[in-house]
Amino acid sequence: MPDSRVPRPRRFLVCEPRHFAVQYAINPWMRPDTRVDVDLAREQWQALMSAYRAHGHTVDAVDPAPGLPDMVFAANSAVVVGGRVFGSLFHAPERRPESVHYDTWFKSAGFDVHRPEAVCEGEGDLVWTGRYLLAGTGFRTTREAHREVQEFFGHPVISLTLVDPYFYHLDTALFVLDDGNDSNDNNIVYYPEAFSPGSREVLAHLYPNAVLATRDDAMAFGLNSVSDGRHVFIAPRAEALAARLADHGYVPVPVDLSEFHKAGGGIKCCTQEIRS
Ligand code: ARG
Repeated sequence: MPDSRVPRPRRFLVCEPRHFAVQYAINPWMRPDTRVDVDLAREQWQALMSAYRAHGHTVDAVDPAPGLPDMVFAANSAVVVGGRVFGSLFHAPERRPESVHYDTWFKSAGFDVHRPEAVCEGEGDLVWTGRYLLAGTGFRTTREAHREVQEFFGHPVISLTLVDPYFYHLDTALFVLDDGNDSNDNNIVYYPEAFSPGSREVLAHLYPNAVLATRDDAMAFGLNSVSDGRHVFIAPRAEALAARLADHGYVPVPVDLSEFHKAGGGIKCCTQEIRS
């Protein structure tokens, strides 16, 4: 274990939760009668932004649009690798209009956006590891989209099947700790039971030293974390996982997004990374 993990500054894209609410149910966490404490949600989200900035990261923001309560979940709107933007085509009709706003932001920031032909939910299901993309399917993003992503980026795309409806996006069951180039600094954390048996074997084969999380960690949104290679922005209720990460030389930075859990989202869902 390296005694000093080195952080890499990131550029994140986010969307303020001005219109955040739970108005429909498209995953098991969502109950349309749930009241969201809008002020608390805004405070929690601001605390995440402050934590990112305090650790040297850059944050860009898309303007939130009324009538799109899930637009705060920026991770779902694209995956960006090497400055190339693969946009989203949401599974739920309620979320489809979000793409227009994100695509407009990318274009004004100087990026071309590839419009997918198949259902694809950005970094919710497409996770860049630094070497290839891990791609979730089973609930949202389709295998057709995985093929399209591989053609677009020219990086290997490894399809993984999700089997538990509570972990409907890959980023609720797995996150990248380190996206460096050698095995010392390229590693992930995941919750094995969220995956089909074959996909579990694939992960075990690719990441023999992965940190394995428990169901409690996963239900606390501990797998919906963001790492910069040293600091891990993580839900405070995922205590056991945070302690294990500390044992591995990472520095957990607890940020509570409990209001967003009511919509099935957490830290990573609110954060898209723009990789140049
Ligand atoms: N309510 C949103 C949905 O179900 C939550 C999205 C969470 N985002 C994520 N990256 N997992 O689509």
